Amino acid sequence: MSKKPTPSFESQAMRELAEVIRGRRTINLYLQTPVPSELVREAVEAATWAPNHHVTEPWHFYLLGRETIDQCLDLCRDIVTAKKGPEAGAFKRQSWSEKPGWLVVTCRRSEDELLQREDYAACAAAVQNLMLYLWKAGIGSKWTTGDITHDPHFFDIIGIDARNEFVVSLLWYGYPKITPEQKRKGLGEALSELP
Ligand SMILES: Cc1cc2nc3c(=O)[nH]c(=O)nc-3n(C[C@H](O)[C@H](O)[C@H](O)COP(=O)(O)O)c2cc1C
Repeated sequence: MSKKPTPSFESQAMRELAEVIRGRRTINLYLQTPVPSELVREAVEAATWAPNHHVTEPWHFYLLGRETIDQCLDLCRDIVTAKKGPEAGAFKRQSWSEKPGWLVVTCRRSEDELLQREDYAACAAAVQNLMLYLWKAGIGSKWTTGDITHDPHFFDIIGIDARNEFVVSLLWYGYPKITPEQKRKGLGEALSELP
């Protein structure tokens, strides 16, 4: 099999960057090793350098402590119990209790539809910045938008005023126990080059 030639513009730094971007995976299972909170604070600061139209800085990051996480776990159990019964609720609570770090990312609400769309896009870019920064430090994460992130009780627990903000991501993070495989369709599917 012929080896893909190295493009002349490619440098070690670019290969490393591409490795971080391509290698980052959504992590479901984590080691219980704590992540230094200073590192997470740095990741949040780096996240805020995302592009955002009119530099509105529409994001807010909530770093949850033990007490708040426990309240979220109880809420998760209650949501699942209401849908699928107490056994499923207890199982889900247990599996979520193994997510070491919890961050909630919100976006400012806007009455202006275009501004709202662009602000959401900026928040998504910020979450990606955050995930990549963590990944470079050996820390995996998972972006979720599950039922809990729409539940009014969740807003109460975090202290979010739903009139002003909505949840973009509940982001779990920690050192990966298992890193799953993923694939993408490839450049041919994603790119059309026009004359
Ligand atoms: C906006 C957004 C919401 C997501 N919500 C969920 C979710 O609720 N549950 C989930 O299992 N994964 C969720 N994911 C993660 C995707 O499933 C994941 O990115 C996808 O499987 C590709 O895997 P990769 O991140 O390893 O490339 C979400 C991702 C994004 C960008």
